[in-house]
Amino acid sequence: MRFFTIWIFALLTFSAQVFAEDNLQEMVDKNCGACHLTGQVSKEKLERMSAPPMWGIAKKIKTYIQGEQKQINFMVNFVLNPEPKKMLFPQETIKRFGYMPSQKEAISKVDLQAISKYLLTKHY
Ligand code: HEC
Repeated sequence: MRFFTIWIFALLTFSAQVFAEDNLQEMVDKNCGACHLTGQVSKEKLERMSAPPMWGIAKKIKTYIQGEQKQINFMVNFVLNPEPKKMLFPQETIKRFGYMPSQKEAISKVDLQAISKYLLTKHY
């Protein structure tokens, strides 16, 4: 019986996690995917890509900023108040893609913190 209970608990925890991750991926696709390449790459997504791919951004942040919390803070801060001088990508990126508009009105800080953590610790 005890084994069974543990098993059920593990299963529930696992499905809750999968559910939460699906939700986060959906939020990323909805809030960032219109410009950045996110999730599974497809021809259609590559064609409408109008910002550096998310995997590239996550890699840059992890290369230049040490510590998970600082990395998350950088992303949250950039998305709410993007400024060219904060960019880790070279300024030529702006020539190719233009500036990123602030997403302050589009996403809450709490959601943004959750997706930043997701993007920086697991997925792109
Ligand atoms: C309307 C298009 C658009 C949307 C929506 C968008 N971005 Fe961007 N983003 C850009 C562009 C263009 C750049 C590159 C130029 C710049 O940095 O301003 C950029 C740059 C960035 C950078 C900085 C890269 C660097 O150089 O350090 C981060 C971080 C980022 N985006 C995260 C996000 C996240 C997370 C979301 C979703 C919550 C998002 N963006 C939504 C267009 C967008």
